[in-house]
Amino acid sequence: PRLPNNDDDDDNAAAAQQQQQLRARLERRAYEVWISEIMLQQTRVAVVIDYWNRWTARWPTIHDLARASPDDVLAAWRGLGYYSRATRIHEAARLAVADPRMRGLLPSSAAELQARVPGVGRYTAGAISSIVFGRPEPMVDGNVLRVLSRQLGVHANVKTDRAVVDAIWVAADALVKAVAEDNDDDGDADEIILDGEGARVNDRPGRWGQALMELGSTVCTPKPDCAACPITTTCRAYAEGMALADNMKETS
Ligand code: ADE
Repeated sequence: PRLPNNDDDDDNAAAAQQQQQLRARLERRAYEVWISEIMLQQTRVAVVIDYWNRWTARWPTIHDLARASPDDVLAAWRGLGYYSRATRIHEAARLAVADPRMRGLLPSSAAELQARVPGVGRYTAGAISSIVFGRPEPMVDGNVLRVLSRQLGVHANVKTDRAVVDAIWVAADALVKAVAEDNDDDGDADEIILDGEGARVNDRPGRWGQALMELGSTVCTPKPDCAACPITTTCRAYAEGMALADNMKETS
């Protein structure tokens, strides 16, 4: 006959194994999104896809990347430009694997991502935190800057005025937090994403941020296609007859 607590041991072992699988999945996704967002900062999506596929085939996990030789890493980046980014990714991978607080899993909070991962700034921290971990953190790139400055009717030049950029980040922060709270379980085909403990987390922040970027790169471009835009009803620039078209110029 089995000892009374054998079943408990089995349950515990199964739970521990599931825990480990979840962690591995999350770790892999954080790594993949991190690499893609760094690559996408200087290069178009169409070009990045091949580089990203080759990169993740060669180094499927952050642990593999940490063990890679600097020469191989630079060779894999060749053609993407801004090579210091490859060097910093490699350095960050080695740090993240060695750091007992991470052990390969990037932090979930935007503040910790910025503080602990070399090369991760405000934008990339927001992207990883929201897309991978479902945190309501803003991600403002050049496209989102244009979408939101038009929506809000910002007349000041966003290219030259640092305070305006910061104000847009504040607005983006408030928006993504409002979006995250609109968790009405309405049957939307939300992806289910799980945190390290296997709890369901809200996937809206990541989808929201990426939708804004997509709108900015396809519709709300420097020469916008307002007829195709789904959010003209809330757009101040549209209401003002695109009077703000000049607020993205390099010089004011
Ligand atoms: N450009 C860079 N990162 C992106 C993302 N996550 N979604 C859409 N466009 C992007």
